[in-house]
Amino acid sequence: MTADREITNPKAVAWDRLGSAYWNLNYNGGPNPSACVQYLDGVAAGERVLLVGASTVALARAVLDAGAELVVADFSAVMLAELEYLLPGQAEFVRVDVTRADPRFDDAFDLVLADRLVNRFVLAEMRGALRTLSGAVRPGGKLRLSYRLGLYERDVPVLAEAARRGETSAVFDEAQFDVDYSGAAEWLATVLPPHGDIPMDMLVDFYVARGREHRIRTGELDELAAQVISDSTRYEIAHLPVLGHSGDFLFQLTRRT
Ligand SMILES: C[S@@+](CC[C@H](N)C(=O)[O-])C[C@H]1O[C@@H](n2cnc3c(N)ncnc32)[C@H](O)[C@@H]1O
Repeated sequence: MTADREITNPKAVAWDRLGSAYWNLNYNGGPNPSACVQYLDGVAAGERVLLVGASTVALARAVLDAGAELVVADFSAVMLAELEYLLPGQAEFVRVDVTRADPRFDDAFDLVLADRLVNRFVLAEMRGALRTLSGAVRPGGKLRLSYRLGLYERDVPVLAEAARRGETSAVFDEAQFDVDYSGAAEWLATVLPPHGDIPMDMLVDFYVARGREHRIRTGELDELAAQVISDSTRYEIAHLPVLGHSGDFLFQLTRRT
């Protein structure tokens, strides 16, 4: 694993604590097999693929099955180490916070992928990540970021309970359209749906440590991309429904040659 910069993002702690429980305890938050095929559409053997998110094991395996060269980026040392344990010597593992600029990635990849990574961000983090990840795409290459549009299903009972308690503003910033489960730490366990076999106290700790996250509205990623990409005429943008994941879309940015 390579890591040459200190990680200061407090959200990394949430993923370090959860580690491989994410997949070993049947959480299965990643894309299904048909979505993996869709994310990798057009990739050829020998091409360089950057996957952001070591938790997305199925996608990492699919990249390797396609014969592509895989670089996995993640800000969690634990997530990276656990994936490296599953795929020893089969990929390069880089510890990096992609919301910050990273010149190592500039123009270096044919395909840059992340599954619902942008849903873990607030707007400023999204801007940073779009800048870094669009910059990592070579001419002729693609960036594909899946995202959930609107609120998550689990947000509904959490926001309802916050409203019942008169604590909505601690959990939901309606103007920004951000949620923050840390404001619900004391009672989150009473309303949170289970995720696989992850014990409820571990799950609550995970969501609380993730802190504030923006919920994405229609057209927002295009606006953010236009703000951070200096010459947007060099790129073509599409939004494709993700196969088998209702409510999820693939934000696809193709860099012209
Ligand atoms: C790809 S995301 C989302 C995974 C899953 N599909 C979901 O819906 O929750 C999770 C992975 O991204 C990593 N991650 C989150 N924010 C990051 C950041 N700013 N820089 C690098 N990796 C990050 C986490 O450590 C974790 O391994």
